[in-house]
Amino acid sequence: MIGPAIRLSLAIKSPHIPPMAILKIARMGHPVLRRPADPVKDPTAPDIRQLVHDMLETMEDADGAGLAAPQVHVPLRLVIFHVPEKRLAEGEPPDPEAGKVHVLINPVVEPIGDETDLGWEGCLSVPGLRGVVPRWRKVRYRAVGLDGEAIEREAEGFHARVVQHECDHLDGVLYPMRMNDLSLLGFEEEMGRYPVGSSSEEEEEEEEDV
Ligand code: NI
Repeated sequence: MIGPAIRLSLAIKSPHIPPMAILKIARMGHPVLRRPADPVKDPTAPDIRQLVHDMLETMEDADGAGLAAPQVHVPLRLVIFHVPEKRLAEGEPPDPEAGKVHVLINPVVEPIGDETDLGWEGCLSVPGLRGVVPRWRKVRYRAVGLDGEAIEREAEGFHARVVQHECDHLDGVLYPMRMNDLSLLGFEEEMGRYPVGSSSEEEEEEEEDV
């Protein structure tokens, strides 16, 4: 006799139903977020593709704009992110990369010029909080993609900010560590209720954590 529970588990193993895994997100204080992550040896390996698939599920489930592998307890140099269309609505130049999900393996980020911007950030590993963080306005980044292809891009605005935030995770850096005014760190709920008149370039709105 096969009971209903067993029948259910057999059904889930069907090859027509892709395995889905929403991963647990590490929170500030967990050592995986403090250590430098290791390089990915083979970006085209099937387990890396599976990791990216699971990270996408996890990012979507958490309503985030970006996620770094250490945030799901995997200490590898890999990040995913997307630049939401709404972030380009005003003030920012059109970005051909908007809306796409990017996968960066072994990324390296360098600033272009020495201008910085202040902007609000949140992080899935620091839930409930928001802070104003200085970032390079313009950056160039190099990485490898899932098919082993070389990626090189220049980015500015939110795109540059999210890349800097995610790649910081690979070096054990969380956004509060980049802040130069901790009075601009607070609970999202309170910051929304009592907006801070900061010199932030970006309006605080409903933002995705990264
Ligand atoms: Ni983050």
